[in-house]
Amino acid sequence: MTGTRTSTEVGLSTDGLTKSFGGVRAVDAASVTFQHGRINALIGPNGSGKTTFFNCVTGMIRPDSGTVDYRGTAITGRAPHRIAAAGIGRSFQLCRTFGRLTVLENVLVAQRDRSFARLLRGSRSAEDVDRARGWLHRVGIDHLEHAEARDLSYGQQKLLELAGVLMAEPETIMLDEPAGGVNPALIDRIADLVRGLNAEGRTFVIVEHNMELVMSLSDHVVVFDRGRPIADGPPDDVRTDPAVLEAYLGV
Ligand SMILES: Nc1ncnc2c1ncn2[C@@H]1O[C@H](COP(=O)(O)OP(=O)(O)OP(=O)(O)O)[C@@H](O)[C@H]1O
Ligand SMILES: [Mg+2]
Repeated sequence: MTGTRTSTEVGLSTDGLTKSFGGVRAVDAASVTFQHGRINALIGPNGSGKTTFFNCVTGMIRPDSGTVDYRGTAITGRAPHRIAAAGIGRSFQLCRTFGRLTVLENVLVAQRDRSFARLLRGSRSAEDVDRARGWLHRVGIDHLEHAEARDLSYGQQKLLELAGVLMAEPETIMLDEPAGGVNPALIDRIADLVRGLNAEGRTFVIVEHNMELVMSLSDHVVVFDRGRPIADGPPDDVRTDPAVLEAYLGV
């Protein structure tokens, strides 16, 4: 991977993506493009469809219609493990860790597919353990390796989840509210991590309500309102866009 911040290669894109729950169009004919190599943000008011969009892209939910493309390949409706295999990793809005497993075990089970079975059989390869320790070191919680995940602070659990995502070596990382419920010191660490990983060539799509973080971190911002994009561009353009102010403030 090489740093591609200035490139204009399309990474992840959707065309007419739609998903309804009963009468609610959570994602409504959304056509969005995220450039490869960038730190992209996806923002919008509560309930505007950001998480549902993530779920459709990563195969957790099958869209009603529309398509998802990743670097020129149609990935619409693929199962989550196949999306992961295509190079897309994700975190969850409500952090997903196994409370009674240790920190190290959590990173090991986060690996794709067979790893959980392998872990249950007790045969973890030394190489996997080394890689897991490496990512724990990278996110700054390697000293907690033997702690049970439930004893970590919420922010530390977010870092643990990120270490697990990184075990699959995704080239594109989708984070759903990485700073939500996290204390300011750890928010700074998460921001530094994202910048560092991006400098190494990883693309990000980040859903986040912390506007200070979004504005300082992202190269490109897409704004959702009622399931569809209403604005996109550099952070400074988006923050002053009248349609965005209206969506957030109702003015
Ligand atoms: N599984 C579901 N069943 C029914 N309705 C759902 C489901 N998931 C989401 N919705 C509805 O779809 C809409 C979009 O929800 P979604 O969670 O995608 O929004 P969001 O932008 O992620 O919001 P937030 O910023 O609060 O996380 C909301 O009206 C929500 O109530
Ligand atoms: Mg959400």
